[in-house]
Amino acid sequence: MMSIKHFLQFNELTREELEYVFERTRWIKQQFKAYKTYHPLHDRTLVMIFEKASTRTRLSFEAGMQQLGGSAIYLNTRDSQLGRGEPVEDAAQVISRMSDIVMIRTFEQEIIERFAANSRVPVINGLTNEYHPCQILADIYTYIEHRGPIQGKTVAWIGDSNNVCNTWLQAAEVFGFNVHVSTPPGYEVEPERAGLYGTDHYEEFADPMEAAEGADLVTTDVWTSMGFEEENAERMKDFADWQVDADMMQAAKPDALFMHCLPAHRGEEVAAEVIDGPHSVVWDEAENRLHAQKALMEYLLLGRIETPK
Ligand code: CP
Ligand code: NVA
Repeated sequence: MMSIKHFLQFNELTREELEYVFERTRWIKQQFKAYKTYHPLHDRTLVMIFEKASTRTRLSFEAGMQQLGGSAIYLNTRDSQLGRGEPVEDAAQVISRMSDIVMIRTFEQEIIERFAANSRVPVINGLTNEYHPCQILADIYTYIEHRGPIQGKTVAWIGDSNNVCNTWLQAAEVFGFNVHVSTPPGYEVEPERAGLYGTDHYEEFADPMEAAEGADLVTTDVWTSMGFEEENAERMKDFADWQVDADMMQAAKPDALFMHCLPAHRGEEVAAEVIDGPHSVVWDEAENRLHAQKALMEYLLLGRIETPK
């Protein structure tokens, strides 16, 4: 089988490839804002498979594919044979014979790896229990758009060491920035699960205020991720001191940005005054999912294209 490029983990693309994707993101965004038609994926079909809920991921992939001239088909576990025990390998064989690119949101990373191993077309991770690479693609693009290169900067991650946190840690190794992580006891980063090769780019802090100190970017996520709902009551207690509030933002650099992948719970992981306040770039961050994923799909399907100056 011809070698196919997938995006299952953030570090699957090199820094150089990611920088190319950002260059294309910028150009594709400009075209979109100027209402210029750009249909490089005319006649291409994206299949989106969701085993968990979504607003942003579905919308950005579906709208993005249509804006690039292609079409998108939505499948979920409930209404397809996927929920009735058809082996993931068989589903991959069939789905990838009828489409040009596939996006999957599922539970264990292993599921998407097995799908990709049996797919004839590129597979994109739209969130697993372990990773959320498309989110961090958009987040880093958003950081660069607001503040310039992220290399050498400090990102403070406050809260759960979940899929979004793991992906920040991978991105830190790729781009050469630092992540200061503060989780409640018992919720620390698991380097192997995070897919890390070294620990050079992150440091753990017992005190979230210390993690936020001097940070260029402060970010967090829900205390309970999808698939872990039965732990919710316990997590509410364990995470009570891990809310990003105005004092925490005060400890960061004066021009620090605040990001959240959304959906957010005001009064839990973030105070309303922060997410709705002057440091917050959450709406740009959400919008950039669209532009960054259009550039990603273009790259996985068409390879490199020269960007007009
Ligand atoms: N941030 C994110 O992936 O949002 P959705 O769950 O709405 O897709
Ligand atoms: N960590 C969250 C992210 C949602 C976009 C979850 O997995 O539910």
